[in-house]
Amino acid sequence: MSVWLVLLYALLTSANINNVPYTTRIYSNLAEIIQPLEKLPLEFTDDDWNYIRSDSITLFGENINITLQTITEQKKTLNGTVVYVRSPISSDKTIKLIKGILIDEVNHLVKIQDKSIDSQQSLYFTVPDNQIFYFEQPVKATHYVNFTYTSTDSKVFVSYLQSNLNWRTQYQLNLNNNESNLIAMANIRNDGKSSVFIDQAELVCGDINLQMHHLQYDRSYRKSRSGGESYHQPQSSAMQMVFTDVANKVSIEQGKELAGLYVFPIDQPFIINAKTNYLLPMFRPQVSVERYGSISKIFSTMSTNGKVQRSYRLKSDRYLSHGNCIIREYDRVVGETLLPNLAANDKYEFSIGEDADIIYKENVTLISSITFNETESKVKHSLDKNISPGVFMTRTRYTYTICLQIINFKNRLINIEYEQRGFHSYQNIKLIILDKHKFIQDGSSIKSNMTLQANITENYSYTIELIR
Ligand SMILES: *[C@@H]1O[C@H](CO)[C@@H](O)[C@H](O)[C@H]1NC(C)=O
Ligand SMILES: *[C@@H]1O[C@H](CO)[C@@H](O)[C@H](O)[C@H]1NC(C)=O
Ligand SMILES: *[C@@H]1O[C@H](CO)[C@@H](O)[C@H](O)[C@H]1NC(C)=O
Ligand SMILES: *[C@@H]1O[C@H](CO)[C@@H](O)[C@H](O)[C@H]1NC(C)=O
Ligand SMILES: *[C@@H]1O[C@H](CO)[C@@H](O)[C@H](O)[C@H]1NC(C)=O
Ligand SMILES: *[C@@H]1O[C@H](CO)[C@@H](O)[C@H](O)[C@H]1NC(C)=O
Ligand SMILES: *[C@@H]1O[C@H](CO)[C@@H](O)[C@H](O)[C@H]1NC(C)=O
Ligand SMILES: *[C@@H]1O[C@H](CO)[C@@H](O)[C@H](O)[C@H]1NC(C)=O
Ligand SMILES: *[C@@H]1O[C@H](CO)[C@@H](O)[C@H](O)[C@H]1NC(C)=O
Repeated sequence: MSVWLVLLYALLTSANINNVPYTTRIYSNLAEIIQPLEKLPLEFTDDDWNYIRSDSITLFGENINITLQTITEQKKTLNGTVVYVRSPISSDKTIKLIKGILIDEVNHLVKIQDKSIDSQQSLYFTVPDNQIFYFEQPVKATHYVNFTYTSTDSKVFVSYLQSNLNWRTQYQLNLNNNESNLIAMANIRNDGKSSVFIDQAELVCGDINLQMHHLQYDRSYRKSRSGGESYHQPQSSAMQMVFTDVANKVSIEQGKELAGLYVFPIDQPFIINAKTNYLLPMFRPQVSVERYGSISKIFSTMSTNGKVQRSYRLKSDRYLSHGNCIIREYDRVVGETLLPNLAANDKYEFSIGEDADIIYKENVTLISSITFNETESKVKHSLDKNISPGVFMTRTRYTYTICLQIINFKNRLINIEYEQRGFHSYQNIKLIILDKHKFIQDGSSIKSNMTLQANITENYSYTIELIR
């Protein structure tokens, strides 16, 4: 059995490597198909065409000049064919069909000559589409793309964007005591109605802004015309077995940086069946993960309270492409996050939910508020001669003391990272008294890292000066 499969597989691949193998570049929402130009015009079935971005079809090669490109839709017309229509007088119970000739398939105009209708004349009338019965299966259109070009090289390639193929990275982060293990999988999806044979592929990731536009008019027109979308027969079952048989040989190479993006090559051929997700293991990065409780809040003069967030700081020795990540702690799923595109050795901090065991309360006390007239900086440094030297701004300097209480209900030591943000409505912020705790000012936020013993209530305070 497997010998036959290998033989069949060899036949399949040799058929594709007799000239330049074609490449498929798969992006997060579409794929670029690149293949040697064999014959013109290029021919696409209606189903395939729905997934192709028609303005992306082009030729490339050494020193090629395209002088004309045409895109034509052709469909066998049903105009003039014999059809049956339901007699207008027939009720639902007794359906009577009358023979007629379809005059205009677009407007459903039918010509009828029937004894049951009291006339020897031909009658022309429009019939609702669902009352016309055809003798042949309505055919779908074929799309032709033709080029007129000049080239000095015989190697010419055709390239176009197709939305039935896409990919994304998906991760599993397994944490156990101090061990962390990140598994990355490439999830390649064929959304189309027929199998796709991929000779060699590149998975491309990064911040790529390609859009896939559909011709809405065309689609709705086709749907009403053919009464629903039919499916291509999937490829033979032998092909599907080949696909599973070679699956274990397909692997994704290391990612390479390219103009701010990352490219992951796949050098073995494979087939993705219609409406199928094909998952391949990617790199196995070495990651380090720190766990901490985070308090990240917006400054308010009101008292606030809340629970800390279960937060993680992740660092990888490889570039990570963005993708969903399911997090397991001690084999249990504890949450998920969306990892961004992350450079090797950069840090990514994320929170996945509250921790009910660690709560905080914060109150803010106004110590003083002093109003003053600001004249120097603004006016003295102004080069605008129209501003008279007497112009000034009335400002207020507020001094607040912030008392923070954190209660750790756990029976173990915890690390907390605190951040107070959101001083946007103030012109200036300054941390002036820092208590015995190490609060620091980082730009326009106040931060501190704290370690809380098991089962303890800790009190912190700091004083800030805000100018509005
Ligand atoms: C069928 O006939 C109608 C009316 O003459 C015309 O509008 C339509 O284009 C024809 N269809 C085809 C495919 O030629
Ligand atoms: C395609 O273009 C070529 C070059 O202009 C021309 O010779 C050929 O007839 C065209 N084919 C079709 C089907 O239009
Ligand atoms: C393509 O056009 C350029 C510029 O007009 C010209 O120099 C070149 O020779 C052309 N190449 C071919 C293959 O016709
Ligand atoms: C994990 O922690 C255990 C004890 O807490 C220690 O023996 C082990 O070496 C640590 N492993 C790593 C990879 O740090
Ligand atoms: C600021 O200037 C206004 C207008 O001249 C004056 O009424 C006010 O007393 C001044 N305030 C201070 C704090 O100097
Ligand atoms: C603010 O909280 C501290 C303890 O965290 C408490 O001692 C103090 O009374 C509180 N002040 C107000 C005004 O609630
Ligand atoms: C808290 O710890 C993290 C991780 O070690 C560090 O990046 C950050 O700068 C620390 N923040 C403060 C305020 O010390
Ligand atoms: C936590 O502290 C409370 C009172 O401070 C005490 O009653 C309780 O037994 C402590 N729990 C643990 C697990 O230490
Ligand atoms: C913090 O303040 C509370 C009362 O507000 C007190 O019960 C607790 O013991 C204080 N914590 C420490 C570590 O002093």
